[in-house]
Amino acid sequence: MKIDRITDDDLRKLVKLEERAFTVGPYSADMLRYALSESGDMAFKVEDEENIIAYIMACPVSDSSLDIESVAVDPEYRGKGLAKALFQHIEDIAKQRGYEKIVLEVREHNPEAIGLYEKLGFKKTEFLKNYYSEKLNGSRNAFRMEKRLIE
Ligand SMILES: CC(C)(COP(=O)(O)OP(=O)(O)OC[C@H]1O[C@@H](n2cnc3c(N)ncnc32)[C@H](O)[C@@H]1OP(=O)(O)O)[C@@H](O)C(=O)NCCC(=O)NCCS
Repeated sequence: MKIDRITDDDLRKLVKLEERAFTVGPYSADMLRYALSESGDMAFKVEDEENIIAYIMACPVSDSSLDIESVAVDPEYRGKGLAKALFQHIEDIAKQRGYEKIVLEVREHNPEAIGLYEKLGFKKTEFLKNYYSEKLNGSRNAFRMEKRLIE
């Protein structure tokens, strides 16, 4: 599997993937453009012949902490280890750059994502009431989760 950096030229394909991957609240082109500019060189993709089929985007929130802004895999390509591989890639870079932890927020009713994060060693640290503006399965609540990279 080939993992490449995302560039501004990927915007159209990323919007397409967001719309396929998220049933509620996909990022718009403007939101993605902004998030990409904030993430600097910490945005990665996997492609097939035509489309981006998986991506991850992270943003430094301090010198020691990296926040996962988004991760998504095309529904047709789920369960094949793509998200896991993208996380491993970003974690390796985070370690090289001296980050102490990776944090993220996830909807309370997103068992696929919570399953992924727990498998990767993330722990729930906070319950965020009404964190999201739109409901999914009747809830706007989220968990904050964290993985420490050094003890
Ligand atoms: C969450 C998501 C990114 C997982 O992508 P994926 O490529 O299918 O995940 P992987 O194949 O790398 O799975 C890695 C681990 O995650 C967990 N996992 C994946 N799918 C799961 C599911 N349906 N239920 C429970 N755990 C699951 C498993 O522990 C799995 O390890 P295993 O295969 O050894 O059991 C994908 O379902 C997705 O894009 N969902 C919609 C977008 C989204 O919700 N993003 C997260 C926003 S916070």
